[in-house]
Amino acid sequence: MSSAAEWQLPLWQSLLPIGRTAPAGGYQRFAFTQADAQCRDWFINAAAERNLRADCDRNGNLWAWWIPPGTGSPAAIVMGSHLDSVPDGGAFDGPLGVVCAFAAIDRMLERGLAPARPVGMAAFVEEEGSRFGLACLGSRLLTGAVTPEAARALTDADGVDLAEAMRRAGLDPDGIGPDPELASRIAAYIELHIEQGSALAGIGAAVGVAESIWPHGRWRIDFVGRADHAGTTRLADRRDPMLPYAASVLAAREAAAELGGLATFGRVAAVPGASNAICSAVRAWLDARAPDEAILDEIVSRVMAAAVQSATGHGVTVSQHRESFTPLVDFDCDLRHRLVAALAGRGVAAPALPTGAGHDAGVLAAVMPTAMLFVRNPTGVSHSPAEHAEPEDCEAGVAALAIVLEELACR
Ligand code: GLV
Ligand code: MN
Ligand code: MN
Repeated sequence: MSSAAEWQLPLWQSLLPIGRTAPAGGYQRFAFTQADAQCRDWFINAAAERNLRADCDRNGNLWAWWIPPGTGSPAAIVMGSHLDSVPDGGAFDGPLGVVCAFAAIDRMLERGLAPARPVGMAAFVEEEGSRFGLACLGSRLLTGAVTPEAARALTDADGVDLAEAMRRAGLDPDGIGPDPELASRIAAYIELHIEQGSALAGIGAAVGVAESIWPHGRWRIDFVGRADHAGTTRLADRRDPMLPYAASVLAAREAAAELGGLATFGRVAAVPGASNAICSAVRAWLDARAPDEAILDEIVSRVMAAAVQSATGHGVTVSQHRESFTPLVDFDCDLRHRLVAALAGRGVAAPALPTGAGHDAGVLAAVMPTAMLFVRNPTGVSHSPAEHAEPEDCEAGVAALAIVLEELACR
């Protein structure tokens, strides 16, 4: 039994098997794949079981609405997160927020509470950017942070573009793009998420609220050299792209340590990938994050400088392409204080935390008030099958979200 299976909530249990790569392993839930289709069906069923109207917006994001009769049409309070995963991801990053949103509605129903305004739930598409490279694709499309043309042209590792992937999933790629009408119907978006660090564990709190998100981005770096025989090519004659790649990895670590940011090469492809040949090219992805944009720029500049310097010495060319970027996000202060006060009023202390992790709530913050609740992660491990939250902390997340929903939607 994987530890994610400990939380007995039936809704959680029904989502757990989808996209799991092995009984004790991680998750492979990429946008517009079969696992994603099963997750989408799960969402639609969860909405139907609660008599919520489910729909899919023009960008493939899923929504479920509770529109109490006689409330007119004030803007809605929306909760949600995402159902896609990183490769071999954990069970909680994304799904915890969606499950807790449905469970918070259940709490309201059990207590006989009716909202005074519409309540929505959302599951955003391709939040991780694991298939098409651009993180928070669904929320970026909704807010206009990426153009439909640029999005349609994104390709996955097999060369399938977004437009084709959407068509195969039964969606219309011609309709994607900004949706100001939908955004204007939302008064606030609240995303509950597992903490991707161990700050809450350190201070003994089960839940927290997000204060800010570090600016961050992804850069694809292509090192192009020349393929040759590993057993016969003299060292002096080689144009080996692996060497400037290695220099870049070391530079990333050094720059991040010196400047107080984070820099990671977590994905790399050697082309063509023969163990007895010098490769012709190395394609690598740098993920960099920092407390401010100046530091972030400096980290990336130092990595690129090291790449170019080493490449020049080895007869290799280097080019870079920024695949994804999110500026600093400071979450809406008034909304955050309102959440903290409502929670404190019910005896829940929720400290405010900055984070280096990206979220749809950060993208949506450009067009509407947003806030985030974090649920304690005892080890802090995330983007890994070892990601974990204790069942009682998941329940504390549901309770906190229900308090927030009552505060924002019932008054
Ligand atoms: C998403 O989890 C990210 O921070 O990359
Ligand atoms: Mn994630
Ligand atoms: Mn997430």
